[in-house]
Amino acid sequence: MTERDNPLAEKLAQRIRREGPLLFSEFMEAALYDPDHGYYSAARRAHAEPTGIAGDFFTATQVQPVFGRIVGAALRRMREELGLAEGCTVADWGAGRALMGEHLGGFRYVAVEAGEAAPEPLEGIVFANELFDALPVDVVRCGAAGARLRRVGWKEGAFCWIDAEPLAGEWKEYAERLSHRMEGLDEWILELPVRVEPVLRRIGGALRRGALIVIDYGYTEREVIRFPRGTLMSYRRHRAHEDVLRDPGAQDITAHVPFSFLEQCASSLGWRARGLENLSSWLLRAGERDMFASALQAESEEEAVRLRLQLKTLLFGMGETFRCLRLEKGV
Ligand SMILES: C[S@@+](CC[C@H](N)C(=O)[O-])C[C@H]1O[C@@H](n2cnc3c(N)ncnc32)[C@H](O)[C@@H]1O
Repeated sequence: MTERDNPLAEKLAQRIRREGPLLFSEFMEAALYDPDHGYYSAARRAHAEPTGIAGDFFTATQVQPVFGRIVGAALRRMREELGLAEGCTVADWGAGRALMGEHLGGFRYVAVEAGEAAPEPLEGIVFANELFDALPVDVVRCGAAGARLRRVGWKEGAFCWIDAEPLAGEWKEYAERLSHRMEGLDEWILELPVRVEPVLRRIGGALRRGALIVIDYGYTEREVIRFPRGTLMSYRRHRAHEDVLRDPGAQDITAHVPFSFLEQCASSLGWRARGLENLSSWLLRAGERDMFASALQAESEEEAVRLRLQLKTLLFGMGETFRCLRLEKGV
């Protein structure tokens, strides 16, 4: 890659020459959300979407109609449990193509996207499918000598990692806490979820009473040992690779969601966590009432086969990788 091939790379390289190496969260923010060339903003402007067959990756939300039907049933049951009014709002936070809308009968559906105003305070359910893995993170390299931030520099026509200042303050404490889980390793890479709290605050500001459902891939504090090289990944045309500095704006960048941190952060902001489970258990509970009959309702044998395959993908493919966290507020 050279500066000339990619206008966002050129813009970022100029910024590095002017200001010095960037925090990775600044690089990731620009790579995904730069108003002119960011991965999500550029796709949206071109009325293309990064997700789906023609895009770079699939999310559970693309497995329609089965995902939408089961989630619809789960949210209706949750509405009853929480004593929320019929017709209350579901805010699809990080909605992408807003594919959930048509499956959420009985709710007022609101899609919220990056860079848009938060909705007026509401009672209901905030649904966040693969929102948190798309939030910019910082990166640290940890070892016996302590933890140092990894910044992004520009050298010989390419972006490169630069070990920078030692960590300080609350993020130093966070890295030290997780480092206890890394016993036996000389060195490891960790992401700092620096945008989780601001996004939770924003969602909390818009939700007076109700629940937040987070569906994503991630790890708990106990499981961080599985990721000694960190969890950053890029996706392009359904292929994953680890070079997240390549071609900013032209590929997705994600980080696994640190669920323990998310829960702790939510509790400190007044949410009540109602347990983390595999997506498959959550979907199974939602579908068991009618043995998935409504999710699999089809008009032809061909459609029935397609829907059964979708259910299989959700339960046995995505369902074992993805997790579901339910957080409640004011109920
Ligand atoms: C991986 S996509 C998931 C889209 C959709 N929920 C799905 O499941 O297909 C992440 C989405 O979150 C959006 N997003 C990122 N940060 C956001 C924020 N702070 N507020 C609202 N949406 C955000 C992105 O623009 C993108 O559309």
